[in-house]
Amino acid sequence: MLNLAILISGRGSNMEAILKSIKKKKMPINPAVVISNKPDAKGLKIAEKLGVKTEIVISKGFKGDRWDYDKKIITVLKRYGVTPTNGFVCLAGFMRIISPQFIRKYKNRIMNIHPALLPAFSGLEVQKQAVDYGVKYSGCTVHLADERVDTGPIIIQAVVKVNDNDTAETLAKRILKQEHRIYPEAVRLFAKGKIKISGRKTKIS
Ligand code: GRF
Repeated sequence: MLNLAILISGRGSNMEAILKSIKKKKMPINPAVVISNKPDAKGLKIAEKLGVKTEIVISKGFKGDRWDYDKKIITVLKRYGVTPTNGFVCLAGFMRIISPQFIRKYKNRIMNIHPALLPAFSGLEVQKQAVDYGVKYSGCTVHLADERVDTGPIIIQAVVKVNDNDTAETLAKRILKQEHRIYPEAVRLFAKGKIKISGRKTKIS
């Protein structure tokens, strides 16, 4: 069975949606561990309530480079059986850039959700970026992580209309609803081996 780790930094609503959906849809996935880089991440309590083990790998004040930190994460992953051969990692609001070494070790086994229609509006505060730019549509993207930020092969996208009176907050709320729908769906597709990757393109069977 696929061993899943979810990496979070805060609220954990995508993590919650994934964990609930795994149970509800009886996906062939073992939710092995939720890891946070912040000790006060709200999502940790939610994970515990849902009966999933949690770990904290504090990043604040960490002396060392990105790879040194990621090696600590990988040690935890391995302890929970989330290996490069039968593991799967979901980034769900994990506010850190992953090192290329980590990406290469878990090649095509790390997924991320981004609250915009990539490749538009990568980076941070992207709902504000979308409102400020004046786009008529935005949305969210589930993609595999590659060695750069927000650039990996796209798995699912959902479109959300931007209204004239939207603020970053109101748009973010509607996008989040879609995130909770497409992220668990992408996880299910991955677990069922339905995602074929060829270069930067994916094909869903
Ligand atoms: C989401 O909007 C996600 O797309 C972005 O960070 C936010 C995390 O929210 N990467 P949550 O912690 O899942 O509630």
